[in-house]
Amino acid sequence: MRAGGGLEPGMNSDWREIPGPVPVPPNGNLAAIAEAGGLHTFQLALHEKYGPVARFELPGTSVVSVADPELLSRTSRINERPDELFEFLSPLFEAGNLQTIPEREHVPWRRLLLSALGSHRSHEAHFSAFTRLTLELADRWAGEREVSLQEELSDLSLRIICEFALGSADGAAERIGPAFRELIAEYLARQFGLPSAIPEAERATRAEEALARVRGAITRTLESQSRSGGLVGMLAESGWSPARIRDTAVAVLLAGYHTSGVAVSWALHLLAGHPEITRRLREELDRVLGDRPAPTYRELRSLDYLERVVKEAMRRYPPGPYAARELTEDLVLGDHLVPAGTTLMYPIWAIHLNPVHWPDPERFDPERFTAKAAEGRPKFAYLPFGFGPRSCEGAALAMVEVKLMLAILVKHFEFASVPGHRVTPVERFVLWARDDIRLNLTPRDR
Ligand code: HEM
Repeated sequence: MRAGGGLEPGMNSDWREIPGPVPVPPNGNLAAIAEAGGLHTFQLALHEKYGPVARFELPGTSVVSVADPELLSRTSRINERPDELFEFLSPLFEAGNLQTIPEREHVPWRRLLLSALGSHRSHEAHFSAFTRLTLELADRWAGEREVSLQEELSDLSLRIICEFALGSADGAAERIGPAFRELIAEYLARQFGLPSAIPEAERATRAEEALARVRGAITRTLESQSRSGGLVGMLAESGWSPARIRDTAVAVLLAGYHTSGVAVSWALHLLAGHPEITRRLREELDRVLGDRPAPTYRELRSLDYLERVVKEAMRRYPPGPYAARELTEDLVLGDHLVPAGTTLMYPIWAIHLNPVHWPDPERFDPERFTAKAAEGRPKFAYLPFGFGPRSCEGAALAMVEVKLMLAILVKHFEFASVPGHRVTPVERFVLWARDDIRLNLTPRDR
């Protein structure tokens, strides 16, 4: 079977002729990826050198990386992800890793998840809790001179997503956070070979205990009568098995933990270097909020410049720097017939820095997202949340969170770079900064 249309006469059907670096056995191009500083920077250089469709090898896997918006659109129905890339997370799931479950199981799961994560009503219901959690952080920061944004803001987004998943009435959200943080730190340390002073066996035991605590907290919420209005309470009505509901909660916590906080930290990093854009954003916030410390849900939706700033920050530094699919049937891609079984990669970071669609791509310019500037730009030139049947189910919720956090923090503080502190993007499943993003801050006279 073939997807993407028929092969036309004169096409080069041998996919092995797709250009790319020479693989070195037994690990393919792994050494070159490490040398480049991660998959995101490797893919940037790959497409600069070999064009919009390029090939490389991971151990045991052939990868075709597609950076052309038109060709991407031809892959937009593919509904499988490669197991290998997500294998390291599989112990977190009892009923199968939801990121890689097959299409027939994924379709109903996605439908239900979207009904909970994508509805304005559910965003509005949690909005005052999100606001309270962000204002608590702003109060704490009022006594600080310098902050480490990624650490602090991913912690805030973890609190927010725990509240969304479990509700806040019985304190479950507060209890689950520390165990979840410990669990994910261990899994990322294993995957990225990060150093640790704690012996491996002890780390393994601690991770197992943390996972048991996380599952225990979700089970208690599932079994409690009140259920506090969170996602888990809603899923309890679905008829799914408790294991699948626990898995879903873990997947949502995982997906919502680093991403939103990371998006806000990159946005603040960019704003600290662009006083004119910050001034314009403040003008909008002051005009709409007056002296109030936070927007209402309705106001948040009307803050157009804020939205443009967030979109542009996620173009420049996409929190998810790449996505992947697995071909279950042959695919015609440009001049090539790519065989079933191949891994396709979507190099989001490279796509967002393509000068054909984003002139002067490194420049931070929210005006790229006015309706006029966006006219004629291909849809798949901008993919912060991926696309197709495996795109991010949390996209709409994430936009609410990110805009709210940014609005409150920019309303409260002036931010400035810390002299001598270097910000280096690295891949840690999300686009992280190696030594965090440190900024000086001064409370604003509101
Ligand atoms: C700024 C914040 C976020 C960004 C940039 C982001 C980005 C992404 C990306 C790039 C993917 C892969 C999409 C693909 O393969 O096409 C993804 C998947 C996913 N995201 Fe997000 N995400 C964010 C926040 C969230 C939040 C807050 C949630 C949940 C509340 C969430 C839930 C998910 C889920 C469940 C998946 C797996 C999709 C599937 O396999 O069906 N994300 N996200």
